[in-house]
Amino acid sequence: MAALQSNYAYRMGERYGQHPDDDQFPGKLIIVEGIDGSGKSTQLDLLQKWLKSRNLVTAFTEWNSSPIVKRTTKQAKTRELLTPMSFSLIHAADFASRVHAQILPALRAGATVLADRYVYTAFARDATRGVNRDWVRRIYSFAVMPSLALYFRVPLEVSIERLSAGREELKYYEAGQDMGFSSDRMESFRLFQSKLLEEYEGLTEEFGLMTIDATQPIAVQQQQVRRYVEPLIEDAMEVGGQSVPEALAHAGLAGRYVTEPPPRRLTEQDILRLERSPE
Ligand SMILES: Nc1ncnc2c1ncn2[C@@H]1O[C@H](COP(=O)(O)OP(=O)(O)OP(=O)(O)O)[C@@H](O)[C@H]1O
Ligand SMILES: [Mg+2]
Repeated sequence: MAALQSNYAYRMGERYGQHPDDDQFPGKLIIVEGIDGSGKSTQLDLLQKWLKSRNLVTAFTEWNSSPIVKRTTKQAKTRELLTPMSFSLIHAADFASRVHAQILPALRAGATVLADRYVYTAFARDATRGVNRDWVRRIYSFAVMPSLALYFRVPLEVSIERLSAGREELKYYEAGQDMGFSSDRMESFRLFQSKLLEEYEGLTEEFGLMTIDATQPIAVQQQQVRRYVEPLIEDAMEVGGQSVPEALAHAGLAGRYVTEPPPRRLTEQDILRLERSPE
């Protein structure tokens, strides 16, 4: 398809003044993108721990997690009811809810907001499902432009290898089986993810995402991530000696939008420790 009118959504966003670097948003928005298994959550988790160790107020939000649409989405997915368009809209509803309930209040408060997947996930997935690219960008035109968007680039084989090492069974939509690419789930997943990769390559150029070679060791990537983040957090809001809710209350804010870090996957050591001393 022809190149989109570039930055359509963000031109809209700029018109409404929704750039987090504007005065009205003292906080910063850092987002991660990439295909399944590219290592996004691993890097974001390490970044959040680093920011916290520097006493900064962080907020975390992830794709498809808003309490108001989560149950409906889950039911619709389980029953395989979603068409490409309803799939797109239900995720946009989830995103809208999180923007208004989590992301904007935290940015206004001055927090460093970390988002695991952002609008580019919708742009890539919905386009792969045949939804009009321009239409999807319009739907998300209320999105806040990130201060930093990191794209973890990884070949399909590497991501599949990582996923097969640590994950349960692939799900219907995750494998893109609704598109009828293949009745074999793994084969469908491969085809779907390779199309997503192509979409991401286009998006990287269109929106100027910062690319990280995600085949590198975890620690090397984390160093790069921190180098990108460092200049953004010079004046970032600090917790000081207080808890995060106290720091926010001090800034005249209250709410549940600043969350704890996402639950970490248990390692074998954690499991052994839990077995030794069950809580
Ligand atoms: N640089 C790396 N080298 C080797 N293994 C890695 C690397 N980064 C992450 N992994 C491992 O790959 C698996 C997938 O990583 P992670 O969950 O961070 O990916 P993700 O991009 O968040 O995936 P998803 O989109 O499915 O949420 C994990 O088991 C993780 O420990
Ligand atoms: Mg993840």
